[in-house]
Amino acid sequence: MELAKVRQYLKENHPRFVAELGEYIRFASISAQPDHRPQMEACAQWLRDHCEQIGLTAKLVPTPGNPVVVAKTPVQPGLPTFLVYGHYDVQPVDPLELWQSKPFEPRVAKNVMYGRGTCDNKGQHLAHLNAIEAYLKTGTPLPCNLTFICEGEEEVGSLNLAGFLQKHKAELACDAVVISDTGMPSRKHPALTYALRGVACLEVKLTGPSRDLHSGLFGGSVDNPAMALCQMLAQLRDKKGRITVPGFYEDVAALSAFERKQLARLPYKEAEYKKFLGVKTLFGEAGFTAWEQRTARPTLEINGLTSGYQGVGSKTIVPSWASAKITTRLVANQKPKQVLKAVSDHLKKLCPPTMKIAIEIGHAGDPYLMSPTSELAQAALRALKSSFQCEPVLLREGGSIPIVNDFKKILKADTLLLGLSLPDDNAHSPNEKFDLKIFALGMQMSATLWPELADKSSK
Ligand code: BES
Ligand code: ZN
Repeated sequence: MELAKVRQYLKENHPRFVAELGEYIRFASISAQPDHRPQMEACAQWLRDHCEQIGLTAKLVPTPGNPVVVAKTPVQPGLPTFLVYGHYDVQPVDPLELWQSKPFEPRVAKNVMYGRGTCDNKGQHLAHLNAIEAYLKTGTPLPCNLTFICEGEEEVGSLNLAGFLQKHKAELACDAVVISDTGMPSRKHPALTYALRGVACLEVKLTGPSRDLHSGLFGGSVDNPAMALCQMLAQLRDKKGRITVPGFYEDVAALSAFERKQLARLPYKEAEYKKFLGVKTLFGEAGFTAWEQRTARPTLEINGLTSGYQGVGSKTIVPSWASAKITTRLVANQKPKQVLKAVSDHLKKLCPPTMKIAIEIGHAGDPYLMSPTSELAQAALRALKSSFQCEPVLLREGGSIPIVNDFKKILKADTLLLGLSLPDDNAHSPNEKFDLKIFALGMQMSATLWPELADKSSK
């Protein structure tokens, strides 16, 4: 298939693509913060308009939460259909003082764009839209139909997307899903991710006295919720980094020898990794390498801990309550519901009689695992290799994109995860960035991908 015109178009229009990414970054589309709702809406509208400009039919589909952008290439009957998924919502920006430039004022330096959402995920799905634009604007026939959907609630658990998929199942029917919302280990290691961890969230609150008490007058005669909570939480993990919740590891699928060998091939230098993270020593579950610990083993983390006085100076109180936000990352074949029950039951058991305990269950998503040897996976690997000019790697990733399991359940489609974000791109951190060279290579990869996939598709 003749792709020279498409490639040329992508090269010639690169400066405009960068400018458009900048425009897109300017929307503070933070889904976790309800007061950002107007920006969510404006961002979705910008994306819909952009899709129309490049030649797609596009619409906004309302949900009980933020709207979903749905766009399609002109329908060609008889050809396979692929669905590209992205998310236009971004993580909160705090701590703001650690940003070297404002999160929603894109800054380009040394061929890198800084800004919240650049790599997670606006730049990554824009790379696909730019490739599609190149086909449409050069009149190069696409070898498949493409449906693009972009949601605004990925960073808060995609609560309304499964319902959206159910409702629009027929319109979204596809042969496979393609998502670029994961990472690649380095510029020289383009990656096909074949597994993601699942996630399950809960919040635990202990209440002791009915109000904050003077610690001098009452302290010593009444239990302290912050102390009690810390003692409970400290028991959730042993010295070897194993989670002590009974049954926690019950359904965990062991890593095969083949996978351990693949993971051992990935670039890793302990000293550099420690420096990058800013830690003195690493810590993780004994018996596993760092790559295994962070991608293929389950974890339980405290994400936030709140109690008592948080202002400047001191305040002599016994706080009335203490709470912790907890998430677990899960691997195949753990079930979020079961794990949440096991953790909740265990916390209740650990709770001392001096405290009232309340547990609130949050969002959850299954882990994902697909076969990296399928025809479609092989086709994707060819597209990665020819565009990046490097041997691609097979990756498990530690992050979660809960909706991939719903694509399988509802649309019966496998998801190819072709991530473009580098380990130091600061996703979810201050100074998030996206490498513009990889942005360009990602567009070339997307352009190459469609003929490769269409060729191997069953239809
Ligand atoms: N893009 C990430 C997920 C990701 C990043 C997967 C890198 C693999 C490698 C996504 O935007 C994300 O952050 N997801 C959340 C989901 C959660 C809120 C349910 C996550 O993993 O914390
Ligand atoms: Zn994210």
